[in-house]
Amino acid sequence: MGTGFYAQNLFPLVARSDAEAAHHAVLAVLHAFAPLARTLTPLVPRPVLPVRAFGLEFPFPIGLAAGLDKHAQALETWPLLGFGFAEIGTVTPRPQPGNARPRLFRAPELGAIVNRMGFNSDGATAVAGRLPPRATSPIPIGVNVGKNKDTPNEAAAQDYVAAIEALRHGADYLVVNVSSPNTPDLRALQSPDFLHGVVQASVQAAAGVPLLVKVAPDFGPGELEEAVIAAVEAGAAGIVASNTTLSRPDHPHPVLRESGGLSGAPLHALAVKTVRRVYAAVGDRVPIVGVGGVRSAEDALRLVRAGATLVQVYSALVFEGPGLVRSMAHDLQGAQWTREIGANASSGNSRASV
Ligand SMILES: Cc1cc2nc3c(=O)[nH]c(=O)nc-3n(C[C@H](O)[C@H](O)[C@H](O)COP(=O)(O)O)c2cc1C
Repeated sequence: MGTGFYAQNLFPLVARSDAEAAHHAVLAVLHAFAPLARTLTPLVPRPVLPVRAFGLEFPFPIGLAAGLDKHAQALETWPLLGFGFAEIGTVTPRPQPGNARPRLFRAPELGAIVNRMGFNSDGATAVAGRLPPRATSPIPIGVNVGKNKDTPNEAAAQDYVAAIEALRHGADYLVVNVSSPNTPDLRALQSPDFLHGVVQASVQAAAGVPLLVKVAPDFGPGELEEAVIAAVEAGAAGIVASNTTLSRPDHPHPVLRESGGLSGAPLHALAVKTVRRVYAAVGDRVPIVGVGGVRSAEDALRLVRAGATLVQVYSALVFEGPGLVRSMAHDLQGAQWTREIGANASSGNSRASV
């Protein structure tokens, strides 16, 4: 837990309420303040550290990870908090409720979250109606898509295509999520044969919008490498690494006994390792978006040194509060990232040169 005003004074209030109720309350407040956020965004200085990746200009390389704004309810807020991009979703083609509650658990002492949400989604049509046209937001908007629970893997490609066709008009980039641990058998889509087919069909449906693939951190030796190579060969423009883990640290905290995906601080080392493996497999062929347990500028730089061009945050935002990205930006001023990534940014697909 951090030492800031939010962590000391507001998080204890949030922590006392049910995790999912708090999540919905925060999003409802952000939604209510959308008009204010829209007015303030052009007036309030935002962190700047331009990075170019998959043909897009990112004003700042730290973004919001998928899963917090699943249904595009608070798009106006994310630039105001300092994010350089925001990924909404996962969105499924048809609406679905997700798993039974409780399905979201916090362990503040560990800076960790376990979730088994199971792609609760308003569905592609409803979310599509909330998206402004591509390239009109102050920051790039990524749209992360998944398949419905009742769609068998053999028909999965059709679900990804349907979601992409409904949502691409509002997506600066798209992400095919084949790595949530909470939809039965979804991760089997990461086997090279399945993945090649799903990505090829999705790239075609994306009609020129860059399409990334989000992978899990729980692969055996060689499997991750085969998966990301298959994705890139099928036309993926980037890899997001990584999703939550099914593994658990050796710790008695009761939340760690809940089934589902673990995120936050205990995921960080594994996420760094996963990014390093992806980079070793695909090199500079496509950029990597690093995500997992980032709480500080130093954590973000660790992912960059492992091979990431962009970095995303979710869990730390819950524990540290809305000032997190600006505080990271402050710590990055004059830090290595400015030299490493900023310097490379002008030369196209940028990443750290360390
Ligand atoms: C409650 C919760 C819901 C999530 N939902 C999604 C999702 O719908 N799609 C997705 O690709 N990732 C989802 N994620 C994973 C995050 O995008 C991210 O990959 C992971 O949490 C690691 O980052 P972090 O440690 O900064 O949270 C979710 C994470 C959490 C905590």
